[in-house]
Amino acid sequence: MQVIILENPDEVAEHASQWVIEFISKKAKPVLGLATGSTPINLYKKLVKSHQEFDIDFSHVTTFNLDEYHNINANNEQSYRTFMTKNLFDKVNINDKNTHLPTCHQDENPRQQGFVFEEKIKKAGGIDLQILGIGANGHIGFNEPSSSFASRTRLKTLTKQTLEDNSRLFKTGEYQPTMAMTMGISTILDAQYVLLMATGKNKANAVNEMISGPLSAKCPASALQLHEHAIVILDKEAASKLPDQDYYLWANTEHQKINQAYGLF
Ligand code: F6R
Repeated sequence: MQVIILENPDEVAEHASQWVIEFISKKAKPVLGLATGSTPINLYKKLVKSHQEFDIDFSHVTTFNLDEYHNINANNEQSYRTFMTKNLFDKVNINDKNTHLPTCHQDENPRQQGFVFEEKIKKAGGIDLQILGIGANGHIGFNEPSSSFASRTRLKTLTKQTLEDNSRLFKTGEYQPTMAMTMGISTILDAQYVLLMATGKNKANAVNEMISGPLSAKCPASALQLHEHAIVILDKEAASKLPDQDYYLWANTEHQKINQAYGLF
C-alpha cells in the first residue's frame, strides 16, 4: 500500500486528480471506477476545471460506478446517477453511453443484474483505476462489515451506521433506501489500480484498521492490503490514528523522485 498523507482535503483532491488525469491522458481507452459521497466531490470539481481550462478530454473514457440504490429511478434526486450527472458527467465531454451504474429495479433479479454489470466491466477490458472512499465502519462501495472478500456485484442491505451517516443527505421525511447494488470486494480488487481517499477525524479509526489492522471482514477496506497497487490518500485528520505517520511522510518524499522521473504508474 502506498500511503500518502497530505495537509488538507483540498490537497487530497488535487493529488487524486493528478492520478485520474495521468490515466485518461496516457491510456487509449481508460476505464475508471467511480465513487459517490462527500469525499470525491472536490476531486470531480478539479476534473471539471481541468476539462474547462486545460481541455482534458473525457470523450474516450468509460466509467463504472461502485454502487447505486436499489429500486431508484435514474432521475430521482437521490440516485447516484443524478449525483454523477450533476458533479461530473454533465460538466465534461464524456459520452453518457460509456457511463455505467449497477442498477436494479423492483421487478429485476439482483443476481442477474449483478452478473450483467460484471460482464460489462469485463467487456470494457476491466477497470484501470478505481476511486474509493471509506465508510466510518470501514466499508468500501457498500460492502458493509461481514462482506466476503470474494464478493462480486450484488444487492446489500445497509447497516444502521451507514444509514445514519448518510441520513444527512436526505430531507426530513424523505424516503431513504435501505438496500443498494454494489461492486463486490473481489470486483474492486480486480481493478489494476485502486485509489482510496479519506478526509476528516471521523474516518481515522477506519483508516487505521484498513492499513494497520488484520485482514478482516470487520473492516472490508482491509482487503486492499491484498492489492498490488493500492494508493491511499489521506488528510492529516484521517491519518491521525496511524502509528507510522513519520515513515509514510518520509517514504513519500522518496517516492516523489521516482514519480517525477517515471510518471505515476
Ligand atoms: C460511495 C461509496 C461509499 C462511500 C463511503 C464514504 O459510492 O461507495 O463507500 O465512499 O460511504 O462516503 P463519504 O465520502 O460521504 O464519507
